Amino acid sequence: MRALGIESSCDETAAAVVEWPEGAMRPLLRANVVHGQLDVHVRYGGVVPELASRAHIRNIAPVVTEALHRAGMEPSAIDCVAVTAGPGLIGGLLTGMAVAKGMAMALEVPLIGVHHMEGHLMSPFLDPNPNQSDFPFVALLVSGGHTLLVHAQAFGQYRILGQTRDDAVGEAFDKGARLLGLGYPGGPAIAALAEGGNREAIRFPRGLTGRDQMDFSFSGVKTALRTFLGQHSDRRHDRSWQQDVAASYQEAIVEVLVTRSLAACRLTGEKRLMVAGGVGANRRLRELLSERAQSSGVQVYFPPLALCTDNGAMIALAGMHRLRLGHRDGWDLNVHARWPLEQINRIEKKEGAWGIHPPGF
Ligand code: KG4
Ligand code: ZN
Repeated sequence: MRALGIESSCDETAAAVVEWPEGAMRPLLRANVVHGQLDVHVRYGGVVPELASRAHIRNIAPVVTEALHRAGMEPSAIDCVAVTAGPGLIGGLLTGMAVAKGMAMALEVPLIGVHHMEGHLMSPFLDPNPNQSDFPFVALLVSGGHTLLVHAQAFGQYRILGQTRDDAVGEAFDKGARLLGLGYPGGPAIAALAEGGNREAIRFPRGLTGRDQMDFSFSGVKTALRTFLGQHSDRRHDRSWQQDVAASYQEAIVEVLVTRSLAACRLTGEKRLMVAGGVGANRRLRELLSERAQSSGVQVYFPPLALCTDNGAMIALAGMHRLRLGHRDGWDLNVHARWPLEQINRIEKKEGAWGIHPPGF
């Protein structure tokens, strides 16, 4: 089976072809094309939805064409089209959905709407060199748009253990970087500045307290940084002081991610933890999590970055699984800017789903 996956829920226009040969143990990633929009948003210090929509409409057709070209396939070789149906920015979702419907209709193949987060949970299964390749596990999903701890019990069975009550963790890095006068995206900029700093120089707040706490809150640490910088404006140009501030700010955020993730493993009894999303690239997070996980007997797995940031391959694979389990969407499939992950817990063959031929067509 060969699936085309289309992802356009935030600021990446992405398409991929995933093939699962009959009888094979694992799927093959035949092409994975991701077109970012950093150039569009960089001067605004964050994703501007209107500009994102316009960039998706410009880029989607070339990206899909390129994915098929790299896979060495004609469109007619595709057996199903999977598309992110939410959650995300509505303009981007509508663009991906319209293209996916057009392709599925023209090729007369099934169309499957995929939850973006279920896509992220697929990244371990796309890794050609996995050290973690089966359910169940705990997933820490951390990016510019999401901060989520999920208990992935089986395909389609997900329990949200914790989520942010305000900013996403990537936003905390991006906003912090802006306060520090650094560029966008802020995560890599803070991480680079933090390299030479003392992470214990300033004790920034860790947000919500409690041993079993699994929710996140990052607005406090951001406000604390703003206040601190206001009180020490005379030191703004002191490089080593800036490094200490960046390292301390990063440490506050990373420590929260680590303690919550390990609490999630302890409370669920899971010994496997997967980290996906752009913030998963953070070196200090990888270091501290690996260190603490080892002493808790938890195995941590970081998929290759290209698989754990937004991409079409994860959507293709999730769609393929859903199709095999009997899921198939009709031409009335819609997009959802908000769509709680737990609402897709149960996979049922939809009564009345009319597949490729709508009633009275
Ligand atoms: O998953 P991603 O590439 O895109 C979406 O948000 O969909 O994540 C981007 C986020 C940005 O907020 C960026 O600042 C953050 O990930 N990020 C990092 C690092 N690299 C990217 N945060 C901390 N440390 C990093 N090394
Ligand atoms: Zn994402």
